[in-house]
Amino acid sequence: MQTLGIDIGGSGIKGAPVDTITGMLLAERFRIPTPNPSAPHAVAEVVGEIVQHFDWHGPVGCTFPAIVKHGTVQSAANVDQGWIGTNGQELIEELVNCPTIVVNDADAAGIAEMEFGAGRGHEGVVIMLTFGTGIGSAIFNNRILLPNTELGHIEIRGKDAELRASDRARQDKELNWEKWAERVNEYLGRVEYLFSPDLFIIGGGVSKKHEKFIPLLHTQAQIVPALLLNDAGIVGAAMAARSLA
Ligand code: BGC
Repeated sequence: MQTLGIDIGGSGIKGAPVDTITGMLLAERFRIPTPNPSAPHAVAEVVGEIVQHFDWHGPVGCTFPAIVKHGTVQSAANVDQGWIGTNGQELIEELVNCPTIVVNDADAAGIAEMEFGAGRGHEGVVIMLTFGTGIGSAIFNNRILLPNTELGHIEIRGKDAELRASDRARQDKELNWEKWAERVNEYLGRVEYLFSPDLFIIGGGVSKKHEKFIPLLHTQAQIVPALLLNDAGIVGAAMAARSLA
């Protein structure tokens, strides 16, 4: 089936229609910079522009970089605080006039990787982590997602883990790959202690450069880079929207 996947991120909002059977984008993706401030109505309007761009009238799936429970956003680590308590699903659905689902961004990326990427065929406990502005997480047990796990916010050395080990922390603190990998190893060690995964999938923008740092990471679980890179959010959002058909 075909649904429209939209990935709402801190710097850009991008979308494309997706064939959810093959995971292929059916048109070139369309991107609009995220409004600043990223307040609910401003973001919803950009989503509306993307829906219009594709002249779309079917199911819409959107990712959002926060806890999303039954459509309502419940946290806002890297987006406008006005989102907390907003039902993003209703807001977008009313504006675009299409059945809409909103899911956490890392959960969406994980869903896409499990089906079409690095998690294909993997049973057991798989943890997808996205390293970007924050750290996103998606945990699968025998391919079933436990949503909204928010492992970027576990505490390490008295700090939110993502403030130490995200890709933004690497860039802001000008850490070289070795220094950053030390922090990521400490983080992965903690996550491994908590969940004993069989596989870690490392995604987010920095996974494009995986050969620079994945060889420096050490866990008992296997560690592999994500395969869908930029498209994981769009494809996962589109897959979440299958339930609307
Ligand atoms: C948010 C998560 C999100 C992650 C990646 C974190 O700060 O709390 O919900 O998945 O960033 O965007």
